[in-house]
Amino acid sequence: VVGLQWGDEGKGKVVDYTSGSFDAVARFNGGSNAGHTIVLGRRTYRFHLIPSGIIKGKKLLVGAGVALDPVILSQELRLLGRQGFRADLMVDGRCTLVSPAEKEMDGFLEGLKEGVALGTTKMGVGPAYAIRALRLSPRPVDLLSGRFDFSRLRRVHRQLTRRAPDLEGWARLSRRLLRGRVGDTSAAVSEINERGGSVLFEGAQGTMLDLQFGTYPFVTSSPSVASYASAGLGVPARDVGDVLGVVKAYTTRVGAGPFPTEFTGPLERKLREEGREYGATTGRPRRIGWLDLVALRYAVRLNGARQLALMKLDILARSKELNVCVAYKDGHGQSSNYYDFIGNVDRVKPVYEKLPSLYGAEFGGRVPTAAARLIELIESETGARVKLLSYGDERSRTLEL
Ligand code: IMO
Ligand code: MG
Repeated sequence: VVGLQWGDEGKGKVVDYTSGSFDAVARFNGGSNAGHTIVLGRRTYRFHLIPSGIIKGKKLLVGAGVALDPVILSQELRLLGRQGFRADLMVDGRCTLVSPAEKEMDGFLEGLKEGVALGTTKMGVGPAYAIRALRLSPRPVDLLSGRFDFSRLRRVHRQLTRRAPDLEGWARLSRRLLRGRVGDTSAAVSEINERGGSVLFEGAQGTMLDLQFGTYPFVTSSPSVASYASAGLGVPARDVGDVLGVVKAYTTRVGAGPFPTEFTGPLERKLREEGREYGATTGRPRRIGWLDLVALRYAVRLNGARQLALMKLDILARSKELNVCVAYKDGHGQSSNYYDFIGNVDRVKPVYEKLPSLYGAEFGGRVPTAAARLIELIESETGARVKLLSYGDERSRTLEL
């Protein structure tokens, strides 16, 4: 399950909804920059690192591709424990770790970008992956062995932020928090697979935030396309099955960066309030725009998503107007191929198709005509099939097509 936009598409609900028939749910990318919200009855559960399969009591795996903050993980486990959820969780011994030093560096680096800051979640995820690429950080297995030499890492942090973080103190605490939970998640997936079981791979962020393929440099710091499930978990590519892409019926984005279909005004405020479009990690108001089929076609192809989950139709139905972007144009011309504008997505103008609005539509058990028209357009433009419709937070407010 992967996001096809700029994150917050509703992956948490889709994972919760579809995980029933799976033996385990595994995260493969990102870290506590992600924010997953699941609503059950009157209760809302919010978490960042723990795979969304926890609500259904699934076995949980956090793969090597994840940036893991042990302190946040244990806070989440404790909070969910108090709400009655027992986590059967294994984190991979080869994860990238996030310490308070990387969190501090995240804020520090954002400060350097004066005016052109990315608007990161300041969870230290980007700096942690960067330090990992420099081969300076310990992995969970290194914390457990207790043989890691922090002196080079401390020097780098001191040079960059003029502070000397207490890395040994953090390492002691993290060792305690992770003990008994570290293992080989790649082997765990393979064992489940060999006995004929199945694992749901849960992506964080969205394709347009992918480090390579997204709206660089306004992207996150790890890959978020489906193919990374294989690399991030240590699972052979041929063992990764079908891809379900999650797409919101309109678009949101938190943080800075190109957003061709963004709009402002009363409808922006209405959709934000009714859709509660505030970041689950930072509380920041999300920017709002129309569905962008140029970006969606690109994302569907990159992920090989044959199936789509279309989310938040109930919120779109609060609007008396419905526009869908079918092409971009700039001074040189018009195209529906995203790559044609890859260097100047910040300057393009969207070309809209006006559709009959979903205003006031009722979803109880069947697809309203206006929604059927929207689904037709999405399917014909992307070649993927809309398999799941969501028209409310609740599990029950879902239609399978
Ligand atoms: P979920 O899993 C929405 C955005 C941040 C920022 C950029 C870089 O909930 O869909 P980072 O902290 O990753 O270095 O910030 O990426 N971002 C997200 N936006 N949903 C997410 O995750 C996000 N994770 C990162 O807002 O613009
Ligand atoms: Mg989110």
